[in-house]
Amino acid sequence: MIIAIDGPAASGKGTLATRVAAHFGLHHLDTGLLYRAVARDVLRRGKSLEDAIAAADAARALDPATLADPALRGPGAGEAASIVAGIAQVRAALREFQRSFARQPPGAVLDGRDIGTVVCPEADIKIYVTATPQVRARRRYLEMEGRGEPATYEDVLADIRRRDERDAGRDASPMRPAADAFLLDTSNLDIEAAFDTAVGVILRKAGQRGPV
Ligand code: CDP
Repeated sequence: MIIAIDGPAASGKGTLATRVAAHFGLHHLDTGLLYRAVARDVLRRGKSLEDAIAAADAARALDPATLADPALRGPGAGEAASIVAGIAQVRAALREFQRSFARQPPGAVLDGRDIGTVVCPEADIKIYVTATPQVRARRRYLEMEGRGEPATYEDVLADIRRRDERDAGRDASPMRPAADAFLLDTSNLDIEAAFDTAVGVILRKAGQRGPV
């Protein structure tokens, strides 16, 4: 059982993926962390984020044990991640790790931008989570405020718009819903309602192909 959950920044896909994985007893990989960690490692090596060779080297050398680093959660890391994420060699270097993760029994939930389209086009269930940029910015702003991180709503909105544009506009695996993805617009849904909808979609699909 492979469940692909894609969507733009702060759409709620991470929270949804964590809850869906726990509910069905599946492994979970937040693939954004891989790109965030590659950007961190490129900068640590004193290289530029646009340096394709340095970024691909960092992606090949990435140690999954370093993904728990709390520094990866910040907005600066997200912005840096979207720069290295545009480099095709970086994406290729991370692909096999993601695919092997997805194949672990009893199954896995992967969240990102290109899971349903490129990493796991064979996924049993694909959900594309969206919300308006304003709603996403508000959520991210409140999250940051809760963690005591200084931010303004306007800056968060600008960051989200910039990343949406970069992620959807790049040549290498651009962010877009797979043709067979269920579109889940959470602009007017809280996490409980989004979770209930996702579970319903999964059970319906799983019912067509056997138990989860
Ligand atoms: O949590 P948030 O949605 O803000 O970001 P994230 O999922 O951690 O992703 C950070 C950046 O990594 C994104 O803006 C993308 O550029 C990139 N990314 C990607 O290209 N492909 C993925 N499967 C996951 C993330």
